[in-house]
Amino acid sequence: MNEIKTIGVLTSGGDAPGMNAAIRSVVRCGIGLGLRVMGIKKGYRGLINGEIEEMTLRSVSDMLQRGGTILQTARCKEFTTEAGVKKAAEVARIFGIDALVVIGGDGSFRGALDMSRHGFPVIGIPATIDNDIGCSEYTLGFDTALATAMEAIDKIRDTAGSHDRCNVVEVMGRNAGYIALDVAIATGAEVVLVPEIPFDMAEDVIKPLIDARNRGKKHYIIINAEGIGNSEKIAREVEEKTGIETRATILGHVQRGGSPSVTDRVMASHMGFHAVELLVKGEYNRVVVKKDGKITSMDIEEALATKKPLPDRGIAVAKLLSL
Ligand code: F6P
Repeated sequence: MNEIKTIGVLTSGGDAPGMNAAIRSVVRCGIGLGLRVMGIKKGYRGLINGEIEEMTLRSVSDMLQRGGTILQTARCKEFTTEAGVKKAAEVARIFGIDALVVIGGDGSFRGALDMSRHGFPVIGIPATIDNDIGCSEYTLGFDTALATAMEAIDKIRDTAGSHDRCNVVEVMGRNAGYIALDVAIATGAEVVLVPEIPFDMAEDVIKPLIDARNRGKKHYIIINAEGIGNSEKIAREVEEKTGIETRATILGHVQRGGSPSVTDRVMASHMGFHAVELLVKGEYNRVVVKKDGKITSMDIEEALATKKPLPDRGIAVAKLLSL
């Protein structure tokens, strides 16, 4: 492989707070370490369509604090085909790009792995509010999304308390319960439902609420992960079986936006630097990860095969604290 002189950067999959900080870091560290950096708009779709522009130190000014992604993101059907991946690698080469930094989730890394199989060097940076990338203890956006959800649930608690009600609050996370679990701990939820752990409505939802009422509680929050869904149905059943007036709220995309937290800005900046450093050293087809509290990297194939179970301790803490 020839020396890497020009790198491309794109964001793919759902946007996450901190993506801009990561783009900025890749651009500034890349230029600082002597590389040219090309910004690719709208993820792999923009790559295939050649929506590519050189980035300068100034093109990433004043965006560290902004949510979303200035490069935008998109889902791309064509890229899921062999021909699409081949075309993406060809277009990248036409624009003089020697390696690609992909900021996104597992799906985006699968695309990056396909590019690497076409001989195109790649590096992944984990970014999704869901924190569901097995290889990394942390994914960019998670901390900010937690803070946003927590703030909203605190407000819901105010109104639940004023009416002696129960509120079922559905949080994002796709098929994972990381947001639900941490936000349940942070808001003192009475019940948390996550897709990783099967539950029985009577035993795990109705009984704890009745027990809590018997202990003197007057308002209740049930955090329900998106992976379980059916929040309205759960709310109706709770009301029917407990007699407690119950409402359902789906927090939705509000959790994806907003100015990134300190953690997300700092992590994004370090991860961006690490990605560029790897490429400069000629190490590629890797994902930057947080492991044992440190920023390091893992082979992309191994990274995609790594699983991260929901911490049992978290569930135990959430249950005990809800007493
Ligand atoms: O992966 C981030 C995420 O917000 C998930 O929590 C959610 O399931 C999904 O993306 C929603 O995707 P979209 O914005 O395409 O509806």
